[in-house]
Amino acid sequence: MPLRHATLRQLAVFRSLAQHKSVVRAAESLHLTPPAVSIQVKQLAEHIGHPLIGQIGKKLYLTAQGEAVASACRDLLDRLERLNQDLSALEGLESGSLSVAIITTASYFVPRLLGDFHAEHPNLNVSMFVGNRQTILERMEANEDDLYILGQPPESARVTAWPFAPNDLVAIGSPDHPLRRAKAIDPGRLAEEPFIARENGSGTRLAAEEFFARAGASLQIRLELGSNEAVKQSVAGHLGFSVLSESTVRKELASGELVRLDVKGLPLHRQWYAAHPKNKILSPAAAAFRDFLERRLSATDRRSWPEHG
Ligand code: PGA
Repeated sequence: MPLRHATLRQLAVFRSLAQHKSVVRAAESLHLTPPAVSIQVKQLAEHIGHPLIGQIGKKLYLTAQGEAVASACRDLLDRLERLNQDLSALEGLESGSLSVAIITTASYFVPRLLGDFHAEHPNLNVSMFVGNRQTILERMEANEDDLYILGQPPESARVTAWPFAPNDLVAIGSPDHPLRRAKAIDPGRLAEEPFIARENGSGTRLAAEEFFARAGASLQIRLELGSNEAVKQSVAGHLGFSVLSESTVRKELASGELVRLDVKGLPLHRQWYAAHPKNKILSPAAAAFRDFLERRLSATDRRSWPEHG
């Protein structure tokens, strides 16, 4: 049955006719002429292959097929109307959802920013996934979230990424680390000391390994740990030095629980990026959150941002 040739216009006209049971009143409610209504209904009946209406005396009635089509028209057009409302609501960020996947290290500041953003759009349903670089890249590949926050976008041309804040990596040790007072430490010399590493798949670890490899040094990994917090505790517990994002150690550096080691080539100046697969059309909520991140950055001192360390 060539129902697929029926147009939304014909369905809307027929719904009105079915409701009013009068060509004249249906025409009035649609701001059409009665012949225009009759033509649309006739064409729809031709697509369906059955008469949709009949007439007894002056009274118009729906055939069995007409009843079935009228009921489907109501469902379809109501659904489209709801879709229309949903889309306008999304445009205004009055409802809808935003799912953001962020890299472990970004959990030191992104949740608070997401909270501030949500306060501006309280009806938005916000969810956040936290994982290391490897996990975030896998989720991005599978297009599981609206937006991704990470420390270094993949080289692949299939990703669009915007830098929005500085993400410096610093070397840290305990306050009694043997090199705590040394100036401009050679990376090769530091690499002779035991190193506390993040787990494989961590972006911080990747960046640190690349830094020492560029300097021709190989790290002596004493411990591998799955979180920045565990690495910090081990460093404070004299087990070795590490290289972490400054945003994760700001408090400990200020309190003196950890010290910053003065290494040639560090801090490593990196950026935080908001990213998504290249051809993805950002939802209005995701685009608004990305703009919010950029706004927050320009409103604060670039070097001291993010401020929620
Ligand atoms: P990570 O990544 O949390 O996986 O270590 C952080 C980064 O790449 O800066």
